[in-house]
Parts: sequence; C-alpha cells; structure tokens
Amino acid sequence: MHRVIEPLRVLPAGSAVLDAGCGGGAVGRWLAEQGRHQVLGIDPELPDGTATDGPQKLPGGGTLELRRADLLDLPVGQLHDGVMLLGVLHYAGSADGVRRMLRAADALSGPGAPLSLSWICDDVPLTYQEAYLPGRELVGRVLAELGWTTADTWTREVTHAHGGSPQHDHRIVYGTWRRV
Ligand SMILES: C[S@@+](CC[C@H](N)C(=O)[O-])C[C@H]1O[C@@H](n2cnc3c(N)ncnc32)[C@H](O)[C@@H]1O
Repeated sequence: MHRVIEPLRVLPAGSAVLDAGCGGGAVGRWLAEQGRHQVLGIDPELPDGTATDGPQKLPGGGTLELRRADLLDLPVGQLHDGVMLLGVLHYAGSADGVRRMLRAADALSGPGAPLSLSWICDDVPLTYQEAYLPGRELVGRVLAELGWTTADTWTREVTHAHGGSPQHDHRIVYGTWRRV
C-alpha cells in the first residue's frame, strides 16, 4: 500500500491531495498525517457520521476533509497536487465508466500531480458472479490518451472470501502515473 501512495506522501507539506473513493478515509488520514497534506476524501458511500464539517486539523499535522460526493460530479474548481483512486476503478461498471472516472481524475489533477491507482483487474475473472473488471491495457491506453505515463506498476494476488461469497482470487494492479 505504502508504495502506491509514496509519490503523494513525499509531496511538499501542505499539498492538496484528492482521495477519490476514500471509503472510511483511513488512507487519506494516514497520508494527511504522514505528509502533513490537505487531503480531501470523497465517496458517494461515505459511512454515516464520517463526513467532516470542512477540513479538520489532525494531531499529527495536515488536514482531512471527508465529503459524501461522487468523483464524476465533483466540480473542477480546485486542481489537486496529487490524486489517488485506490480500489475504485472496478466499481466503474463498464469501459465507458472507467474512461469517465479517469477523465474526471485527470481534470482534477494539477500539472505536476502524481496519480496513484489500484484496482481489481480482469486477468483473473470472477467465477461466482458477473462483475466488470477493467483490463490493464484499457486503463493504460486511456491514461496515455490523456497524456499520462506510467511511473511504476506491479500486481498482487489475493485469495479471500467476504460478505458470504465463496473463496475467490483477484489480481490487483497497483501503479503510479505522471503527466508526460
Ligand atoms: C474498495 S473501496 C476502497 C476504499 C479506499 N479507497 C481504500 O483503499 O481503502 C472503493 C470505494 O470506491 C467508491 N466509489 C465507487 N464509485 C465511486 C465514484 N464514482 N466516485 C467516488 N467514489 C466511488 C465506493 O463507494 C467505495 O467506497
């Protein structure tokens, strides 16, 4: 995990970082404290009671703001110094959905901003349910079209069961991208 957000952690203190699809905000909180960054976490499924009333100062330094919002609806006002979508692209539902998410992330990224991604890819299909899992080629191609180049990419194999599912395998892609 740390490797995928390292390019964000090492940004200058006070950098504005967007954690799109932040879940409960644990990764954004860690990053805000470690890097002393101003992290905005958004998620349409933000757990009840987690949203903050604006940016909250953290004891370790930095600030964290958590908002219930969808990446696809986020106004392109502020550009961020770094953007992460961790575990989010496999929620896109289709190749078009992936394109929309990546275009939104691109539009919200400042000129030198690193982009950190992880997602469950289609190298290992799900056997027990229908699910759209984005391919590595698709994500790489869309990002290349948007002017991003891969800085680092790797995969990890996971075998687990959750929510009553049978045990199953995933291949998770991790990667960081920079603008060409
Ligand atoms: C597997 S969780 C990952 C949470 C967190 N990023 C982490 O790594 O722990 C994926 C999250 O992406 C969110 N998500 C899905 N589509 C989204 C969208 N269009 N905009 C923002 N978040 C989205 C889901 O609601 C879910 O909370």
